[in-house]
Amino acid sequence: MEGTFLNNMENDPSEQMRKLKESIEMIEELFDNAYHGMVLVNKEGRIVKWNYEKLLGIKEEDVLDKHVQDVIENTRLHIVARTGEKELGEIQKIQGHDMVTSRVPIIKEGKIIGAAGTVMFKDVKELKSLTMKMETLMSTVHKYRGEIKKFYEAKYSFDHIITKDRHMMYLKEIARRAAESNSTILIQGESGTGKELFAHAVHNASLRKYGSFVSINCAAIPKELLEAELFGYEGGAFTGAKKEGKLGKFELAKGGTILLDEIGDMPLEMQAKLLRVLESREFERVGGTHPIELDVRVIAATHEKLEEAIYKGAFRQDLYYRLNVVRIDIPPLRERKEDIALQTAYILESLANELKIAPKKISDEALDILSAHDWPGNTRELRNILERALNIVQGEVIQWEHLPEYLKKYKKMTGEVAEESLLLKDMVAKAEIEGIQKALRACGGNRTLAAKKLGIHRTAIYKKMEAYGIDLAIWDDCKNK
Ligand SMILES: Nc1ncnc2c1ncn2[C@@H]1O[C@H](COP(=O)(O)OP(=O)(O)O)[C@@H](O)[C@H]1O
Ligand SMILES: [Mg+2]
Repeated sequence: MEGTFLNNMENDPSEQMRKLKESIEMIEELFDNAYHGMVLVNKEGRIVKWNYEKLLGIKEEDVLDKHVQDVIENTRLHIVARTGEKELGEIQKIQGHDMVTSRVPIIKEGKIIGAAGTVMFKDVKELKSLTMKMETLMSTVHKYRGEIKKFYEAKYSFDHIITKDRHMMYLKEIARRAAESNSTILIQGESGTGKELFAHAVHNASLRKYGSFVSINCAAIPKELLEAELFGYEGGAFTGAKKEGKLGKFELAKGGTILLDEIGDMPLEMQAKLLRVLESREFERVGGTHPIELDVRVIAATHEKLEEAIYKGAFRQDLYYRLNVVRIDIPPLRERKEDIALQTAYILESLANELKIAPKKISDEALDILSAHDWPGNTRELRNILERALNIVQGEVIQWEHLPEYLKKYKKMTGEVAEESLLLKDMVAKAEIEGIQKALRACGGNRTLAAKKLGIHRTAIYKKMEAYGIDLAIWDDCKNK
């Protein structure tokens, strides 16, 4: 049961929300059915309404206008009709059973006109078994809630952002301060520079940390589905929709934070909708009829320079201003070379922990190679390379041989600069590698666009990347994120 739950959980958290709702509905139903009838008396204690036939085997016509004391043992309903003081959940012995009853006065225009009695449980034992059922249900509800929270949890804090670069430290400080407010944050940076990391850290440092952290990649979701993903939909809102409807990310993030990743790829119509939502602080589900209050902090991230997208007409300027309240522009790793050694040490340590292996070091020679590379995939690329190296290294130290082919070209350039090849073919190769990486970077890893920029055919870029060992995985990884 637990295993199945966890599996489903990973596939479809909204399925778990549905289960949660079902549990609550069950509790409600239990309560509804717990009432076993009702009797109404006037202020003299005479019966005016009776539906205890099933419970006590006495018909209404036989008791109407009789005094309640003559019909029900141990009743106090006539007293409540006089004092006006309600008695809830009292145990009353009727026909040999300890029944759980409630008595409330009926008041009209400030005057007591009678009283109503109900039997909530035919026997205290019934109440005990219901209590037990409820406890089981409540603990299940609790468990589900915990699992859902875990799924939508921000894992990282500011301590996980490793840097000794002054500008990065300044950005961390800005983000830390922004975390305390509810302001929208726009994070810009190349793939793998830690945009998501920053978003997690902000959430965890904010008052919203007990709420969910929900992330959505605007580039990965087809245009037609994006609105329903963001705002949810009512049952039967469109063909193919689940009949019970679906919660949107904005609702899932209620009380927490939403990360709109790759916002630069959001279609223009959605941009307009998002702007309206951010301005009115409310939204509607697709097919919905009532507005829902927006109770989330919005963090937007993009690898693109939105200013350029605005210039090209692909991004709305008004939305840009609305998002750009606090701005974090993360510099690429190649502009903070001193972070490479620091991050390498940190990543090696955390990978060793994760993979449960003994800690490994890296040789100076290998580190020099890493420092010479220009890191188009930034820290994500560094992490991939180190993970790969850990998988092949035999001893305790990662050497330059354990680095991928495409980095080995830096070996000659480091320490032995004088020996740098002056062969024309080597110089051409070097220029080509740099050019291809630059183009890939500008296009966020999209090879077709990069080829276009370079003025070569799509198949040519594939061939050259393979020949030079330019890592496809780095770019694939960025896009799958
Ligand atoms: N400054 C940093 N310190 C430590 N790890 C980092 C840093 N920047 C990025 N990373 C790591 O690099 C990987 C990519 O980061 P991520 O936040 O997903 O980047 P982005 O969203 O910008 O593509 C993650 O494993 C992340 O933990
Ligand atoms: Mg990302």
